[in-house]
Amino acid sequence: MRVLYVTPECYPLVKTGGLADVSAALPVALNRSGADVRLLMPGYPAVLNGLADLQPVGEPVTDLPGGAPARLLIGRTADGVLAYVLDAPSLYDRPGNPYLGPDGRDWPDNAERFAALSWCAAGFAATKAYDPWWRPEVLHGHDWQTGLIPAYLELRPDRFAGPFRPGTVLTIHNIAYQGLFGAWMMSDLGLPSAAFRVDGVEYYGGVGFLKAGCYYSDRLTTVSPTYAHEIQTDEHGAGLQGLLAGRSDTLTGILNGVDYDVWDPATDPLITARYGADDLGGKDLCKADLQAAFGLDRRPDAPIAGVVSRLTGHKGLDLVLEAATQWIAWGGQIAVLGSGEPALEAGFRHLATWYPKSVGARIGYDEALSHRIQAGSDLLLVPSRSEPCGLTQLYALKYGTLPLVRRTGGLADTIVDANPAAMNDGSATGFQFVNATNQELTWALRRAMLTYRKPERWHAMQQRAMTRDFGWHGPAEEYMELYREVAPALVA
Ligand code: ADP
Ligand code: GLC
Repeated sequence: MRVLYVTPECYPLVKTGGLADVSAALPVALNRSGADVRLLMPGYPAVLNGLADLQPVGEPVTDLPGGAPARLLIGRTADGVLAYVLDAPSLYDRPGNPYLGPDGRDWPDNAERFAALSWCAAGFAATKAYDPWWRPEVLHGHDWQTGLIPAYLELRPDRFAGPFRPGTVLTIHNIAYQGLFGAWMMSDLGLPSAAFRVDGVEYYGGVGFLKAGCYYSDRLTTVSPTYAHEIQTDEHGAGLQGLLAGRSDTLTGILNGVDYDVWDPATDPLITARYGADDLGGKDLCKADLQAAFGLDRRPDAPIAGVVSRLTGHKGLDLVLEAATQWIAWGGQIAVLGSGEPALEAGFRHLATWYPKSVGARIGYDEALSHRIQAGSDLLLVPSRSEPCGLTQLYALKYGTLPLVRRTGGLADTIVDANPAAMNDGSATGFQFVNATNQELTWALRRAMLTYRKPERWHAMQQRAMTRDFGWHGPAEEYMELYREVAPALVA
């Protein structure tokens, strides 16, 4: 099964969120399941510098919409996955964040940048010029940045009709990010004006990249079963609920997995001491390390609530700011690592200034510190208003750090609340609350604090959490099944 996996991010080359972690691990798992998955990524400097054995492949790419000069390279990731790179310096040779300029705003030409990526992916279907020796059977895109892939295949047969049409799969990692651009861009993006309609790429008067993908892709997936239902509702559909409900027979929720080569306290080189479910001694040392790193009181009996997150509204961290003083009053501590909205950054900075012995806040992005927080905390707070899957709660489980989450999306699917029934049958792995209010979060924190004060119960939950298996093998098999459904049916 030959699959072109088209992604705007891949850890450790370029990462702004969980998509990068998924794009690093899922292709490896798929290849282990017998697929031949290759990545296609934009030629950001970090990608060009980070891949091994990079060399040109095929002929120069001369027909991108907008006319940017480009060529295709191929190299290998650290995990040995082959990766094509669209090397178009005028589009991608820029430092820093892949989507935002130094002023924190979207790059003004993001439409052209990601249309070019999608165009190139569609080109693999039609031309041998890209790589004469390899034709994908499935084009698997991720998020709005790749939404135009199936649109190009459908709308530009003049350009993309090949000997066979590959199947198309689009995975929605977060429906809140939609790639909406001006209607006047249609021809610059190589889209025929006839496609500017509701049954096409039009979306609220503009061109919607994610909308186009949702409309034209053969199959749609998202990253948890609950989120697959939620995005068909007014509350979470962000305007696409009608289209998605109409396509519910082609929409599947496949839960993300964890790369335990990176996230395992028994082998993690980034934490102070190694530990596992059978011997949690090392975790105490990790906690002391975290308290020292954040200047917190060195109290082994003070539960630390950790946060590792983008600081955006949908992550619900304003609720943590509200509930924090109560938690501190009960003797708890807080360790936050995150960056994002200035108001939330300021909120956590202030909290740390007011309660220096109980709260530590590091504003920024720090991969190593994220591991130390996972290992050193007792609880991990993920109070998201919406959460397609969420990875940090899965990492927390493995580190024996009990997740306290809002019951939504993948958080609902992965964490078993410590209600009396689940405590009795030994299935509880964390704490849930339902409504995004200070009162409900505080009540969940209270339950967590009371459980923490009963070490036997707490340890039983930790053990249960650490032995849950969220590896990629199962999800990879589900994607393989989907590829099999979509590929042969479309071979001419
Ligand atoms: P999302 O993709 O919505 O941000 P996920 O939970 O799926 O949420 O993935 C977030 C990923 O980004 C995790 O790997 C998490 O550890 C990482 N992360 C988030 N914020 C930071 C940060 N400030 N520093 C380091 N890693 C971070
Ligand atoms: C998105 C979602 C997150 C998910 C990640 C990887 O960034 O916000 O919930 O885990 O993608 O699929």
